[in-house]
Amino acid sequence: MPGKEWVRESRFGRWFLTTDIWLEYVLREAVVDLKQLLNTSLTETRQILDIGCHQGMAFELLEEHFHPKKIIGVEIDREQIGLALETAKRCRCHVECMQGTVYNLDLPDNSIDLIFCHQLLHHLSDQASGLDELYRVLVPGGIILIGESCRSFLDLFWVRIFFRHPKQIQKTAQEFIELVQSRGFQIRDADIKPSTPWWSRLDLGLIEKIGIPQKPQEPTEVLMIARKPV
Ligand SMILES: C[S@@+](CC[C@H](N)C(=O)[O-])C[C@H]1O[C@@H](n2cnc3c(N)ncnc32)[C@H](O)[C@@H]1O
Repeated sequence: MPGKEWVRESRFGRWFLTTDIWLEYVLREAVVDLKQLLNTSLTETRQILDIGCHQGMAFELLEEHFHPKKIIGVEIDREQIGLALETAKRCRCHVECMQGTVYNLDLPDNSIDLIFCHQLLHHLSDQASGLDELYRVLVPGGIILIGESCRSFLDLFWVRIFFRHPKQIQKTAQEFIELVQSRGFQIRDADIKPSTPWWSRLDLGLIEKIGIPQKPQEPTEVLMIARKPV
C-alpha cells in the first residue's frame, strides 16, 4: 500500500506556479472551463475549500466566479501558505489560510459547499485517502471541481526533469474518473472534459501552430465536476 509521504515540488516547479503563464493559461482556463461544465450559477456559495492552494493564486478567480462568503486555503508547504496569506489580502471575501494536509483536514464533517482541487491528486501518494477526506468535509449535494494532469503529460521528459511528483501512481483521464467515482462521488458524462492544451504537449503546440495537422492524442489533462450524493 502506498504511504502518505509528501514529495515536495521542485524549486523550478514552485516558481512556475507563481508565473503569469500558470495563472493565465492553466489556472484561469481551468476555473472558466469548470464553471462552464458546472452549468449552473452558484449565487450563494458559503465556503469554498481550495485544497493544495500553494500561494493562493486561485483565490481571486474563485471569488470572481463563485462568489463565496469565505475561502479556506489549505496547503502542506509551510513556506507557500505563508505567502498565500499575502495573496488573501487582495480578496474582498474572508480568506482563511491553514497549513495542513488533505489526509487530515481540521474541518468539520459536511461543512464545505464547494472544493477546488486543482492539480493536487497527482501529487498524492495515496490519492484514495485524500479523496475520502474531501468527501468527509463536503456537504451532501456539495461539489468538488477537479483539474488533473494525466500520465501522458507527467511522463514527458521535460516534465520529469523540471517537476517532482510521486512515482507509480499517475493515471490516465479515465483512471482518474474511475478513482473519484470509486470514493462515492457521482460524475455524469456531461461533467467531464478531457483535453490536450498546448502547454501539455511534447512540442508545446508548435507543430499545430505552423499549420501541420496533428493526430488526436491521448488526453493530457482532465477536468471534472463530482458531487457528493444527497
Ligand atoms: C501543482 S500544485 C497546484 C497548486 C494550486 N492548486 C494551483 O493550481 O495553482 C500542488 C500543490 O499541492 C500541495 N500539496 C501536495 N501534497 C499535499 C497534501 N498532502 N496536502 C495539501 N497540499 C498538498 C503542494 O505543496 C502544491 O502547492
